[in-house]
Amino acid sequence: MTNLNQPSTEPALLRSEGGTSVSPDILSAAGSIPSSCLHGIFRAAEARERQTGEAVVKLHVGEPYYTPTDDVAEAFVAAVRRGETRYMGIEGHVDLREAIVEKLRDDNGIDTTASRVLVTPGSCQGLFSLLKTLAEPGAEILLPELHWPVHLQQALLAGFRPVLYPLGPDFRPDPEVIAAAATPRTKVLLINSPANPTGVVLDAAEIGALLGLARGRGWHVISDEAYEHFCYDREHLSVASLERDLPVDERIVHSVFTFSKSFAMTGYRLGYVALANDRAADVMKVVQEANIIGTSTPVQHAGIAALKSRADAAAANRKAVQRNRDVALSALARAGLLRELPAGGWYAMLDVARTGLDAETFALRLLESKGVAVVPGNGFAMRPTLDEQGRIVSHDYAPWARSLIRIAFCVDPAQLETGVRLLLDFVDECV
Ligand SMILES: Cc1ncc(COP(=O)(O)O)c(C=O)c1O
Repeated sequence: MTNLNQPSTEPALLRSEGGTSVSPDILSAAGSIPSSCLHGIFRAAEARERQTGEAVVKLHVGEPYYTPTDDVAEAFVAAVRRGETRYMGIEGHVDLREAIVEKLRDDNGIDTTASRVLVTPGSCQGLFSLLKTLAEPGAEILLPELHWPVHLQQALLAGFRPVLYPLGPDFRPDPEVIAAAATPRTKVLLINSPANPTGVVLDAAEIGALLGLARGRGWHVISDEAYEHFCYDREHLSVASLERDLPVDERIVHSVFTFSKSFAMTGYRLGYVALANDRAADVMKVVQEANIIGTSTPVQHAGIAALKSRADAAAANRKAVQRNRDVALSALARAGLLRELPAGGWYAMLDVARTGLDAETFALRLLESKGVAVVPGNGFAMRPTLDEQGRIVSHDYAPWARSLIRIAFCVDPAQLETGVRLLLDFVDECV
C-alpha cells in the first residue's frame, strides 16, 4: 500500500506535480497553467483502452447516457438542408434569443431582453468571453477552494488573479469567509449552483446573502447555472431572479446557461449568457466578434427546437439522473464513502481516506486493476501562486482534497452500477 509520506512509485500518468516554476521561454499566463486533472484521466483511460482492447467504465466524464429528442436532430438537419449554413450575427439568431428570453422569464424568473442575451458555442466559451469582458489588470475573482478546474483556468487566461476561499462544512460557501478573503481589488464573485464537483445546491437564503455581499462591495456576479435542471431535493433558484425588480443599469448578475446538460446536446456546443446590463452586453459583443464571429447557424435551429420541448425533456432527464443517484450512490453512502447524496448536478465527491491511498494513486490503481476511470479530487483544489504578470510560479493542492475522488452519475445505469461495484471491491481490497 502506498505510504503518503513516501515518494510514489506509480507511473507519472496522472501526476501533476506541484512546485513547478515558469520556464524562462514561456512568457504567457497560458504557458504556466498545468493541464487539468480531467485531461490527465482522459489520457490515462484512453491509453488503457488501447493497451487492453477493453472498454473502460467511464465515471470520469460528465457525458449523459440519454440523448437529445428527435426534434432537435430534425431541426438541425432541416436547417442544413435549407442552406442555413452561413454566418450568423455575433449575438445569435433572433428567434433563439427571443425563445431564451421567454424561457428565462418563465422558468428562471429572470427579466431580460434579446439585446442582453448572447448565444455562444457552448457555455464554456460564453464563460470565458464573459470573464474577458469583465477582466482588467490586477482584478481578482473569488472562486471556492474546491472548484471546477476550468473556472480557474479560464480566470487565469482572462487575466484575473484568482482568490480561493475556503468552503464550510459540506462544501457550502460562507459569506463571512468570502468577505474576509476579498480585497479592494476583488471584482467578481463566481457562483455555481448546482455545483460541479460537489453537487451542492444553494438555497434562497444563501444566494441572497452572497448577492447582498457582492452588491454591498460593488462586485459583479457570474452565475454558472449549467446544471439548472438537475436539482433533486429543492427547486433551482437563479441568482439573477433576485434582481428582476431593479433598474437594469443597477444589476450586477451575469448568468450562464447551456444546452449540453439539460438536453444532452454536449457535442452540439450551444450555450448562452444573459448579461446583467446593456454596457456589459455591448462589451461582450466585441469580445465575441473577435473570438468566434458567431455561433453555428444550424446548431441554433436545434436549440430553438430544444427550447420548444424543454419542459418534458428536462423533466425526463432529471428523473433519469436522479434514479441513478438514488440507486447507485446509496451503496457508496452505505459503505461510508459519501456523507450524503448530492442535492444536484451530475457528480459526487467520495472520500477514500480509509484505503490509505491518495486520490491520484487511488484513481490510477482503480483504472489499472478494475478498468474504472474516476477523477482525483485534488485536481479540483489546485492553489496557484502567481507572479506580477499573472503567471503561475508554483502551485500545490489543498491537503484536505488528497483523499477525494469525483465520479459522474449521469452515465448509463448499468455502467454506473458496474463501476460502483468494482470501486467498492477495490476499496475492500485496499483495507
Ligand atoms: C459547471 C460547468 N459549467 C459549464 C460547463 C460547460 O458546458 P458546455 O461548454 O458544454 O456548455 C460545464 C461542463 O462540464 C460545467 O461542469
